[in-house]
Amino acid sequence: MQAEEVRKAGVVGYGLMGSGIAEVLAGAGIEVAVLEPTEALLATGRERIEASTARAVARGKMDEADCAALLERVHGTTEAGGFADVDLVVEAATEDEPAKVAIFRSLDEVTKPEVVLASNTSSIPIATLAAATARPDRVIGLHFFNPPPVMRLIEVTPSILTSDETVAFARAFGERLGKTTVLAKDQAGFIVNRLLIPYLCDAIRLLDDGFATREDIDTSIELGLNNPLGPLRLADLIGLDTVLQIAETLHREFRDPRYAPPPLLRRMVAAGRLGRKSGGGFYED
Ligand code: CAA
Repeated sequence: MQAEEVRKAGVVGYGLMGSGIAEVLAGAGIEVAVLEPTEALLATGRERIEASTARAVARGKMDEADCAALLERVHGTTEAGGFADVDLVVEAATEDEPAKVAIFRSLDEVTKPEVVLASNTSSIPIATLAAATARPDRVIGLHFFNPPPVMRLIEVTPSILTSDETVAFARAFGERLGKTTVLAKDQAGFIVNRLLIPYLCDAIRLLDDGFATREDIDTSIELGLNNPLGPLRLADLIGLDTVLQIAETLHREFRDPRYAPPPLLRRMVAAGRLGRKSGGGFYED
Protein backbone atom coordinates (compact mmCIF):
# COMPACT_ATOMS: atom_id res chain seq x y z
CA MET A 1 0.00 0.00 0.00
CA GLN A 2 1.13 3.55 -0.75
CA ALA A 3 1.01 6.22 1.97
CA GLU A 4 -1.63 8.24 0.12
CA GLU A 5 -3.91 5.19 -0.04
CA VAL A 6 -4.37 5.02 3.75
CA ARG A 7 -8.08 5.72 4.29
CA LYS A 8 -8.56 4.51 7.86
CA ALA A 9 -6.05 4.21 10.70
CA GLY A 10 -6.16 2.79 14.20
CA VAL A 11 -4.59 4.63 17.13
CA VAL A 12 -3.97 2.73 20.37
CA GLY A 13 -4.26 5.06 23.37
CA TYR A 14 -6.18 8.30 23.77
CA GLY A 15 -3.71 10.01 26.14
CA LEU A 16 -1.63 13.12 25.50
CA MET A 17 0.13 11.62 22.48
CA GLY A 18 -2.66 9.35 21.19
CA SER A 19 -5.19 12.17 21.05
CA GLY A 20 -2.70 14.46 19.31
CA ILE A 21 -1.78 11.76 16.79
CA ALA A 22 -5.47 11.03 16.12
CA GLU A 23 -5.97 14.77 15.52
CA VAL A 24 -3.06 14.91 13.06
CA LEU A 25 -4.30 11.83 11.13
CA ALA A 26 -7.89 13.07 10.99
CA GLY A 27 -6.60 16.48 9.91
CA ALA A 28 -5.03 14.75 6.90
CA GLY A 29 -8.45 13.36 5.90
CA ILE A 30 -7.99 9.89 7.43
CA GLU A 31 -10.77 8.10 9.36
CA VAL A 32 -9.41 7.22 12.81
CA ALA A 33 -10.47 4.55 15.29
CA VAL A 34 -8.96 5.16 18.73
CA LEU A 35 -8.72 2.21 21.13
CA GLU A 36 -8.93 2.49 24.92
CA PRO A 37 -10.19 -0.19 27.33
CA THR A 38 -12.96 1.92 28.91
CA GLU A 39 -15.62 4.42 27.84
CA ALA A 40 -14.34 6.82 30.53
CA LEU A 41 -10.86 6.90 28.95
CA LEU A 42 -12.43 7.40 25.51
CA ALA A 43 -14.41 10.37 26.88
CA THR A 44 -11.29 11.98 28.38
CA GLY A 45 -9.42 11.54 25.09
CA ARG A 46 -12.30 13.03 23.14
CA GLU A 47 -12.27 16.08 25.45
CA ARG A 48 -8.53 16.50 24.77
CA ILE A 49 -8.95 16.47 21.02
CA GLU A 50 -11.94 18.85 21.23
CA ALA A 51 -9.95 21.30 23.36
CA SER A 52 -6.94 21.12 21.04
CA THR A 53 -8.96 21.68 17.86
CA ALA A 54 -10.90 24.51 19.54
CA ARG A 55 -7.53 26.17 20.24
CA ALA A 56 -6.57 25.75 16.57
CA VAL A 57 -9.87 27.42 15.54
CA ALA A 58 -9.44 30.23 18.10
CA ARG A 59 -5.92 30.89 16.77
CA GLY A 60 -7.10 30.95 13.14
CA LYS A 61 -5.33 27.69 12.15
CA MET A 62 -8.55 25.91 11.16
CA ASP A 63 -12.09 26.99 10.31
CA GLU A 64 -15.21 25.74 12.14
CA ALA A 65 -16.31 23.48 9.27
CA ASP A 66 -12.90 21.75 8.97
CA CYS A 67 -12.84 21.33 12.73
CA ALA A 68 -16.29 19.67 12.74
CA ALA A 69 -15.28 17.40 9.82
CA LEU A 70 -12.03 16.46 11.59
CA LEU A 71 -13.88 15.53 14.79
CA GLU A 72 -16.38 13.43 12.79
CA ARG A 73 -13.55 11.36 11.40
CA VAL A 74 -12.43 10.27 14.90
CA HIS A 75 -14.29 7.43 16.63
CA GLY A 76 -13.52 5.73 19.90
CA THR A 77 -13.68 1.97 20.38
CA THR A 78 -13.15 -0.30 23.38
CA GLU A 79 -12.71 -3.41 21.18
CA ALA A 80 -9.53 -4.27 19.27
CA GLY A 81 -11.92 -5.78 16.68
CA GLY A 82 -12.65 -2.18 15.65
CA PHE A 83 -9.28 -2.32 13.83
CA ALA A 84 -10.32 -5.10 11.40
CA ASP A 85 -10.55 -2.69 8.43
CA VAL A 86 -7.72 -0.22 9.19
CA ASP A 87 -4.84 0.38 6.72
CA LEU A 88 -2.28 1.38 9.39
CA VAL A 89 -1.98 1.37 13.19
CA VAL A 90 -0.09 3.86 15.36
CA GLU A 91 0.30 2.58 18.91
CA ALA A 92 0.62 5.32 21.55
CA ALA A 93 -0.02 3.48 24.82
CA THR A 94 2.06 4.13 27.96
CA GLU A 95 5.79 3.33 27.86
CA ASP A 96 5.46 -0.11 29.43
CA GLU A 97 7.24 -2.88 27.57
CA PRO A 98 5.12 -5.93 28.56
CA ALA A 99 1.93 -3.94 27.88
CA LYS A 100 3.18 -2.85 24.45
CA VAL A 101 4.26 -6.40 23.56
CA ALA A 102 0.76 -7.65 24.45
CA ILE A 103 -0.78 -4.87 22.35
CA PHE A 104 1.35 -5.77 19.31
CA ARG A 105 0.47 -9.45 19.69
CA SER A 106 -3.20 -8.54 19.65
CA LEU A 107 -2.84 -6.01 16.79
CA ASP A 108 -1.20 -8.75 14.74
CA GLU A 109 -4.29 -10.93 15.27
CA VAL A 110 -6.98 -8.35 14.54
CA THR A 111 -5.55 -6.36 11.61
CA LYS A 112 -5.12 -7.36 7.96
CA PRO A 113 -1.70 -9.08 7.53
CA GLU A 114 -0.37 -6.44 5.10
CA VAL A 115 -1.00 -3.56 7.52
CA VAL A 116 2.01 -1.66 8.92
CA LEU A 117 2.02 -1.56 12.73
CA ALA A 118 3.81 1.55 14.00
CA SER A 119 4.72 2.49 17.55
CA ASN A 120 5.09 5.98 18.98
CA THR A 121 7.50 4.61 21.59
CA SER A 122 10.53 6.71 22.36
CA SER A 123 12.50 4.08 24.22
CA ILE A 124 11.23 0.51 23.85
CA PRO A 125 13.03 -1.58 21.19
CA ILE A 126 11.05 -1.77 17.95
CA ALA A 127 12.65 -5.21 17.44
CA THR A 128 10.95 -6.46 20.64
CA LEU A 129 7.55 -5.26 19.40
CA ALA A 130 8.21 -6.69 15.93
CA ALA A 131 9.11 -10.10 17.37
CA ALA A 132 5.66 -10.27 19.01
CA THR A 133 4.07 -10.34 15.55
CA ALA A 134 4.07 -12.56 12.46
CA ARG A 135 4.95 -9.48 10.32
CA PRO A 136 8.21 -8.15 11.80
CA ASP A 137 9.12 -6.56 8.46
CA ARG A 138 6.04 -4.32 8.76
CA VAL A 139 6.67 -3.04 12.32
CA ILE A 140 8.36 0.36 12.67
CA GLY A 141 8.69 3.34 15.02
CA LEU A 142 6.87 6.59 14.16
CA HIS A 143 7.84 8.90 16.99
CA PHE A 144 5.76 12.08 17.20
CA PHE A 145 6.49 15.07 19.45
CA ASN A 146 4.27 16.72 22.01
CA PRO A 147 1.97 18.41 21.04
CA PRO A 148 1.68 16.41 17.77
CA PRO A 149 -0.54 18.91 15.90
CA VAL A 150 2.08 21.65 16.42
CA MET A 151 5.43 19.86 16.33
CA ARG A 152 6.78 19.30 12.82
CA LEU A 153 9.07 16.29 13.33
CA ILE A 154 8.58 12.54 13.21
CA GLU A 155 11.48 10.20 13.98
CA VAL A 156 11.16 7.09 11.80
CA THR A 157 12.88 4.18 13.49
CA PRO A 158 13.16 0.84 11.69
CA SER A 159 14.32 -2.22 13.61
CA ILE A 160 16.84 -4.67 12.17
CA LEU A 161 13.79 -6.66 10.99
CA THR A 162 11.96 -3.81 9.18
CA SER A 163 11.86 -3.91 5.35
CA ASP A 164 13.02 -1.03 3.14
CA GLU A 165 9.50 -0.90 1.73
CA THR A 166 8.06 -0.22 5.20
CA VAL A 167 10.65 2.52 5.82
CA ALA A 168 9.71 4.21 2.52
CA PHE A 169 6.02 3.90 3.38
CA ALA A 170 6.54 5.39 6.87
CA ARG A 171 8.51 8.36 5.56
CA ALA A 172 5.97 9.06 2.82
CA PHE A 173 3.16 8.77 5.36
CA GLY A 174 4.89 11.26 7.70
CA GLU A 175 5.19 13.68 4.79
CA ARG A 176 1.50 13.18 3.97
CA LEU A 177 0.81 14.40 7.52
CA GLY A 178 2.81 17.55 6.79
CA LYS A 179 5.75 16.51 8.99
CA THR A 180 9.47 16.28 8.32
CA THR A 181 10.87 12.82 8.97
CA VAL A 182 14.33 11.84 10.15
CA LEU A 183 15.70 8.31 10.31
CA ALA A 184 17.18 6.98 13.55
CA LYS A 185 18.49 3.60 14.66
CA ASP A 186 16.40 1.36 16.90
CA GLN A 187 18.30 2.29 20.05
CA ALA A 188 16.61 3.75 23.13
CA GLY A 189 15.90 7.47 22.83
CA PHE A 190 16.55 7.74 19.08
CA ILE A 191 18.01 11.20 18.29
CA VAL A 192 15.90 13.69 20.22
CA ASN A 193 15.54 11.95 23.58
CA ARG A 194 19.15 10.77 23.56
CA LEU A 195 20.07 14.48 23.64
CA LEU A 196 17.07 15.81 25.59
CA ILE A 197 16.88 13.47 28.60
CA PRO A 198 20.41 14.10 30.01
CA TYR A 199 19.71 17.84 29.65
CA LEU A 200 16.38 17.60 31.53
CA CYS A 201 17.97 15.43 34.24
CA ASP A 202 20.82 17.95 34.63
CA ALA A 203 18.32 20.80 35.05
CA ILE A 204 16.52 18.81 37.79
CA ARG A 205 19.89 18.17 39.50
CA LEU A 206 20.70 21.91 39.42
CA LEU A 207 17.34 22.65 41.04
CA ASP A 208 17.79 19.92 43.67
CA ASP A 209 21.30 21.20 44.51
CA GLY A 210 19.88 24.70 45.14
CA PHE A 211 22.16 26.02 42.42
CA ALA A 212 19.43 28.26 40.97
CA THR A 213 15.65 28.71 41.25
CA ARG A 214 13.28 26.95 38.85
CA GLU A 215 12.45 30.33 37.27
CA ASP A 216 16.10 31.27 36.77
CA ILE A 217 16.94 27.88 35.24
CA ASP A 218 14.05 28.15 32.78
CA THR A 219 14.54 31.85 32.04
CA SER A 220 18.21 31.19 31.22
CA ILE A 221 17.30 28.72 28.51
CA GLU A 222 14.26 30.63 27.23
CA LEU A 223 16.05 33.97 26.89
CA GLY A 224 19.66 32.85 26.59
CA LEU A 225 19.06 30.13 23.98
CA ASN A 226 15.74 31.30 22.53
CA ASN A 227 14.03 27.97 23.32
CA PRO A 228 10.23 28.25 23.72
CA LEU A 229 10.34 26.47 27.11
CA GLY A 230 13.04 26.05 29.73
CA PRO A 231 13.86 22.48 30.82
CA LEU A 232 11.62 22.36 33.92
CA ARG A 233 8.59 23.70 32.07
CA LEU A 234 9.35 21.30 29.23
CA ALA A 235 9.59 18.36 31.66
CA ASP A 236 6.18 19.40 33.05
CA LEU A 237 4.78 19.45 29.50
CA ILE A 238 6.15 16.01 28.59
CA GLY A 239 5.03 14.50 31.93
CA LEU A 240 7.50 13.68 34.70
CA ASP A 241 6.45 10.01 34.71
CA THR A 242 7.31 9.84 31.01
CA VAL A 243 10.67 11.60 31.55
CA LEU A 244 11.44 9.09 34.33
CA GLN A 245 10.48 6.09 32.21
CA ILE A 246 12.63 7.26 29.30
CA ALA A 247 15.60 8.04 31.57
CA GLU A 248 15.34 4.57 33.15
CA THR A 249 15.22 2.90 29.75
CA LEU A 250 18.20 4.90 28.46
CA HIS A 251 20.14 4.08 31.63
CA ARG A 252 19.33 0.38 31.26
CA GLU A 253 20.31 0.39 27.58
CA PHE A 254 23.62 2.29 27.77
CA ARG A 255 24.65 1.94 31.48
CA ASP A 256 25.81 5.55 31.28
CA PRO A 257 25.40 7.72 34.44
CA ARG A 258 24.37 10.67 32.22
CA TYR A 259 20.98 9.00 31.89
CA ALA A 260 20.49 8.07 35.58
CA PRO A 261 17.22 9.62 36.82
CA PRO A 262 17.90 12.18 39.57
CA PRO A 263 16.32 11.43 42.99
CA LEU A 264 14.11 14.56 42.83
CA LEU A 265 12.53 13.28 39.59
CA ARG A 266 11.69 9.97 41.29
CA ARG A 267 10.24 11.79 44.32
CA MET A 268 8.09 14.07 42.14
CA VAL A 269 6.63 11.04 40.38
CA ALA A 270 6.17 9.16 43.67
CA ALA A 271 4.28 12.18 44.99
CA GLY A 272 1.99 12.21 41.94
CA ARG A 273 3.40 15.53 40.70
CA LEU A 274 3.48 14.48 37.06
CA GLY A 275 3.39 17.89 35.37
CA ARG A 276 0.65 19.63 33.44
CA LYS A 277 -1.44 16.52 32.97
CA SER A 278 -1.80 16.01 36.74
CA GLY A 279 -2.38 19.68 37.58
CA GLY A 280 1.22 20.43 38.55
CA GLY A 281 4.85 19.38 38.49
CA PHE A 282 7.73 21.79 38.99
CA TYR A 283 5.10 24.49 38.43
CA GLU A 284 1.48 24.58 39.60
CA ASP A 285 -0.25 24.82 36.18
N1 CAA B 1 -3.49 22.48 15.57
C1 CAA B 1 -2.70 23.33 14.87
N2 CAA B 1 -2.03 24.35 15.43
C2 CAA B 1 -2.18 24.54 16.75
C3 CAA B 1 -2.99 23.69 17.54
C4 CAA B 1 -3.67 22.63 16.90
N3 CAA B 1 -4.44 21.78 17.55
N4 CAA B 1 -2.95 24.13 18.83
C5 CAA B 1 -2.13 25.18 18.85
N5 CAA B 1 -1.68 25.44 17.60
C6 CAA B 1 -0.74 26.49 17.19
C7 CAA B 1 -1.21 27.85 17.64
O1 CAA B 1 -2.06 28.40 16.68
C8 CAA B 1 0.09 28.60 17.76
O2 CAA B 1 0.55 29.01 16.49
P1 CAA B 1 1.00 30.53 16.21
O3 CAA B 1 2.11 30.79 17.18
O4 CAA B 1 1.41 30.54 14.78
O5 CAA B 1 -0.25 31.33 16.50
C9 CAA B 1 1.07 27.55 18.25
O6 CAA B 1 0.49 26.29 17.88
C10 CAA B 1 1.28 27.58 19.77
O7 CAA B 1 0.03 27.35 20.41
P2 CAA B 1 -0.44 28.06 21.75
O8 CAA B 1 -0.37 29.54 21.59
O9 CAA B 1 -1.76 27.49 22.13
O10 CAA B 1 0.58 27.63 22.83
P3 CAA B 1 1.97 28.28 23.23
O11 CAA B 1 2.28 29.51 22.49
O12 CAA B 1 1.93 28.29 24.71
O13 CAA B 1 3.00 27.16 22.71
C11 CAA B 1 3.97 25.00 22.58
C12 CAA B 1 2.85 25.84 23.14
C13 CAA B 1 3.81 24.87 21.07
C14 CAA B 1 3.83 23.62 23.22
C15 CAA B 1 5.33 25.68 22.87
O14 CAA B 1 5.40 25.93 24.23
C16 CAA B 1 6.49 24.83 22.46
O15 CAA B 1 6.88 24.79 21.29
N6 CAA B 1 7.06 24.12 23.44
C17 CAA B 1 8.13 23.17 23.23
C18 CAA B 1 7.51 21.85 22.94
C19 CAA B 1 8.51 20.75 22.82
O16 CAA B 1 9.72 20.92 22.92
N7 CAA B 1 7.99 19.56 22.59
C20 CAA B 1 8.80 18.38 22.48
C21 CAA B 1 8.69 17.62 23.76
S1 CAA B 1 9.72 16.19 23.70
C22 CAA B 1 8.76 15.01 23.08
O17 CAA B 1 7.61 15.15 22.80
C23 CAA B 1 9.45 13.73 22.82
C24 CAA B 1 9.39 12.71 23.87
O18 CAA B 1 9.43 11.54 23.54
C25 CAA B 1 9.44 13.07 25.27
